[in-house]
Formats: sequence, structure tokens, C-alpha cells
Amino acid sequence: MMCSKIIPLGFLLFCLFHHAAIGASPLYHFCFSNENYTAYSPYQANLNQLLNLLYTKVPPTGFGFGSTGQYPNQVNGLALCRGDVSSNNCKTCVIDASKELGERCPNRKGAIIWYDNCMLKYSNKKFIGQIDNANKFYMWNVQEVDNPTRFNEKVKQLLSGLSTTASSNPKLYSTGVVELDKSRKLYGLVQCTRDLSKSDCKKCLDVAISELPNCCDAKQGGRVVGGSCNFRYELYPIVSS
Ligand SMILES: *[C@@H]1O[C@H](CO)[C@@H](O)[C@H](O)[C@H]1NC(C)=O
Repeated sequence: MMCSKIIPLGFLLFCLFHHAAIGASPLYHFCFSNENYTAYSPYQANLNQLLNLLYTKVPPTGFGFGSTGQYPNQVNGLALCRGDVSSNNCKTCVIDASKELGERCPNRKGAIIWYDNCMLKYSNKKFIGQIDNANKFYMWNVQEVDNPTRFNEKVKQLLSGLSTTASSNPKLYSTGVVELDKSRKLYGLVQCTRDLSKSDCKKCLDVAISELPNCCDAKQGGRVVGGSCNFRYELYPIVSS
């Protein structure tokens, strides 16, 4: 668990909360649809059916999508677990995500939530196979590096390389590490949802990486997290391996 070993100040609050909570805490969410469904409506039934489908479909491979019902009550959804997450932890995360999203976005037809271990999105609009440019947020480690120009360049290089390897990996996922100097290593992770083509995965990641100056200039760690792809880098290992 990332919070137990490291104490980046930016995540301190998150970590305290994280440890206090029973399950993992969400990183962020958006209730992106302004349309609401009513209780006991066909839309709600289709949403429940979709979530049940994702609980079984997603854990074995870490990714799945589906649609239930017919227009105008059709629900489309997907869930993605981080590439190294076990199928048990994946399942727990997807179930937590659906419960939490139901509480944070009650009755909303479209919503998305992210955790360290997974993300979950559903909508009445068809979105499978398309890059999500709308739902995105940044996180950063408030600690800064001493030599930002060189460091920023190293981060960009690492992530750009990972973008290329991820987009040619069937899991659209890649992690890597580079040595910065004798005592420090830089760790990176990139991942896309697997409804994207290889070239759209690369496109999505490259746009995210181009946002490094906005999110993460001189920061020891950072993430750009979207509905179709995300990256993270830190000066400590990010994934279990
Ligand atoms: C849906 O519900 C939200 C939260 O109660 C509200 O802000 C929004 O205006 C509603 N949308 C419509 C179209 O009624």
C-alpha cells in the first residue's frame, strides 16, 4: 500500500483518511451527466444489471465494458483495474466504486470514479471506443525537486517511452524505471482503457503527457488521470511487482 511507506506531504491528508477508512478512498469523481433517473425506473434496473455484469466480467482480465437495455434507457459502462492489481482486489475495487458512485452521484445517468486500484464509468451516452477528453484531473506530490529543468525532461522522456510500449502491449499498460543519479530512481506507469485502439491509446497518453507543465512542473511525483488513460510518476515504486 503506497501510503504506508512514503510520506509525500501532498498525499498526507489523503493517507490519513485512507487509513481511517475501511476500504480504499476514491481519488476523485465526476457526476458528469446532468440527466437524472428516478428510483425503480428501467434506467436504474439497467444500471444495476450493468454493474453486476462488470463485477464478473472485469476481475479476470482487469478490464471490461458492456451495455444493458435499449435506448432511451440504455446504460453503457466500463471498469479498468491497474495493470498489476490481482483479480480479487480488482473485484473489491469495482464493487466499492459502484457503491461509492451511487452515493456521490445519486440518480445521475452518467458518472465516473477513480481509485488507486481501479476506475468505473457509466453513462446513458455511448462512449465505448472513444477517447474521453472531458473527465480528467491532476494530482501532484507537493515536494519539489532541486533541478527542475533536467528532472522535468527525464519525466517526459520516461513517460513518452512508456506511452509507446503501452500502446503496443495488449494490456495497454506499461511501467518503467530510470536511474536519475546514484541515489535516486524515477518510476513511471501509464495505462489506457482497452476499448481504445493502440493508436488512440498513444494519442490519449501523449495528450496527457503534454499536460505535465500544467500539473507537475518540478514536482517529485504527479498524475494526469482521465476516463481513457492515465499516467503516474514518483521517486518511489508505484506498483507491486
Ligand atoms: C439532476 O439532479 C441534480 C442533483 O439533484 C440537479 O442539480 C440537476 O439539475 C438535475 N438535472 C435535471 C435535468 O433535472
